[in-house]
Amino acid sequence: MVTTSTIGRSVPRREGAAKVTGAALYTDDLVVADAWYGQTVRSTIPRGRIRSITLDPEFDWERVVVVTADDIPGENVVHLIRDDQPVLARVGGEIRHREEPILLLAAPDRNTLEEAVRHVRIDYDPAEPVYALEEATEVYSTINIRKGKDFEDVEGVELVVERSFRVGLQEQLYIEPQGAIAIPWRERGAGSREPGVTIIGSLQCPYYVHRALKRALKLTDEQAVVVQAETGGGFGGKEEYPSMVAIHAALLARKAGRPVRLIYDRHEDLAATTKRHPGVIRHRTGVKKDGTLLSQDIEIVLDGGGYCTLTPVVLSRAAIHATGPYSCPNVRIHARAVATNTPPNGAFRGFGAPQSLFAAELMVEHVAERLGMSSVDLRRKWMLRLGDTTATGQTLTESVGAELVLDAALKAASAVGRSGGRAVKRGRGLSLVFHGSGFTGSGEKKLQGTLAMEALADGTFRILTASTEIGQGTKTIFCQLAADALGVGLDKVDLAPQDTSLVPDSGPTVASRTAMIVGRLVQEAATEIKDRLQRERAPIKVQKSYVQPDSIHWDETTYTGDAYPIYAWACTIADVDVDMTTGEVRVTDLVTAVDCGKALHPVMAEGQIEGGTLQAVGWATIEEIKMKDGGYQNDRLATYLIPTALDAPRIKTILVENPYSRGPFGAKGIGELPMDGPAPAIIAAIHDATGVWLDEIPATPERVLAACASR
Ligand code: MOS
Repeated sequence: MVTTSTIGRSVPRREGAAKVTGAALYTDDLVVADAWYGQTVRSTIPRGRIRSITLDPEFDWERVVVVTADDIPGENVVHLIRDDQPVLARVGGEIRHREEPILLLAAPDRNTLEEAVRHVRIDYDPAEPVYALEEATEVYSTINIRKGKDFEDVEGVELVVERSFRVGLQEQLYIEPQGAIAIPWRERGAGSREPGVTIIGSLQCPYYVHRALKRALKLTDEQAVVVQAETGGGFGGKEEYPSMVAIHAALLARKAGRPVRLIYDRHEDLAATTKRHPGVIRHRTGVKKDGTLLSQDIEIVLDGGGYCTLTPVVLSRAAIHATGPYSCPNVRIHARAVATNTPPNGAFRGFGAPQSLFAAELMVEHVAERLGMSSVDLRRKWMLRLGDTTATGQTLTESVGAELVLDAALKAASAVGRSGGRAVKRGRGLSLVFHGSGFTGSGEKKLQGTLAMEALADGTFRILTASTEIGQGTKTIFCQLAADALGVGLDKVDLAPQDTSLVPDSGPTVASRTAMIVGRLVQEAATEIKDRLQRERAPIKVQKSYVQPDSIHWDETTYTGDAYPIYAWACTIADVDVDMTTGEVRVTDLVTAVDCGKALHPVMAEGQIEGGTLQAVGWATIEEIKMKDGGYQNDRLATYLIPTALDAPRIKTILVENPYSRGPFGAKGIGELPMDGPAPAIIAAIHDATGVWLDEIPATPERVLAACASR
């Protein structure tokens, strides 16, 4: 029987029907017998020490379960990069941000829970909090990148342009808030319970939660079981924080001797969970009068907030992308991430790159303006091409799409109507960006992502992977790749649940790595199975791990070499209307050309681009978090505004296929890329419309009016 491959075809998504009919079960939909409700009691001060925790004797504490730091059987650490973040702050211990978890409660119903919360009193010895980046002295990490000469030593510079940029916090705003259900045992077959803890939750990275759980609860590999429920979006926000939720739920369940549901409402999720790192990026660029780029000197400062979380990795990606997709012989990048007393910042789609690329792209505009050149021409002069080297000294040997996407976007953007008038001014801006696919440097090599596949006796095949479906299409793409390599129909392939007791660690579902890195393992496993089925009979099980190609070299100490296996590229053209009376910016049209290597599933690839683009439009224009006393003032959906369908520009996506030799069918990662380009394009469009340059986002009406007034 001949089966047609579905690669490059937009087949129905695997979990799509269940999602749209409401059959899909998210964490809070799951009915677990005898489960209690959990609640986190948090600090009310941004910095200081806990003097005492008092449980009011007026309340009958027999009705609830109380967990403090003393109830943690293992280490009081949320395992990630640095061991600084406690599971629960203890009496005498430090408070580093206003949402710091201190105590946990569980009760059979929500009313009892709320009553109990009201009878907990925590007294503090407050200390002076640090909020301003300029005043922060504690450094989480630094990155230095050096290529060629120091800025002052470069000869032939005829013009130096300097500028400073600032970017704000952003909430991931996945549609489903954080949540986990903890069961204080493992189910082994019908009704048999074994020692351990089972977590069912909304999460991106089952094995991150698994590791964190083992450490805090003192469990063996086997005893900790983490299962991903249907998950309503992540965008990086469910990369690290689910470990905290899971440990808290597990501690409560263990003490209660029964399952506990710990599900955040939107307010708690907005107030307490990680945000995109805000920061300041300062550029100095040296050029010749003809535009030749000679030197870039860049300083990046990111705000990590109260704990380290993934900050060093975010900073690293920010630094590596800081030059923009340009070839410069002399580069200095000094990047540091500092501690402040706000809730910790963490992973968010783009992971540092949107921040530094925002500055890099506006810098091209400023240099072009000073030279009296078109910024498109300047980009053509500077852009990375095949054989060029990046700031880390990586020579680009294949799939360099800068020029392809620039040409494609310019061709697709319709002629701009120059109308408008005095009340509403219209403008257009462009940006060019790149984004490294997969983990940085030796990351994939260290990670050794692993995937297994089984040929079952009934003629079907099963993929065993910890890569999660978070709305981006993992399940569909993996089945397409497996069916294609096996030469069978899509209906013959399925995935095992994302359950750590069943599937190997494929690495986290982050960093635009799933389709490209793990997708390739799907192909390799399926190819081997097909081959073995010629000689053997099912069942067969094969396992494949990532092998770093010999051609990739990375030196972590000097920060030189091949920072990423490959880059994806995008050019964005944004049209805006600026209301000169109210200062409101409306992005009306947005064209984006993306070099994705290969679109395995064009509708989902476009979906990724459109979703990321709209998220970036929000970051650039209306998503502003106001701080008050170390907390987020607008921590409600009524006040934290994101673009809705009515605010969305017309988005035209052009998928450019410029294959990468090691990606499945040439595919490169594109999950994060669309977050990078829109913000600088929009700020350039606002300048085109109004004649003023904003150096800070979001471009709120207040900022736009102030900039226009001060001109
Ligand atoms: Mo991410 S921000 O690599 O989930």
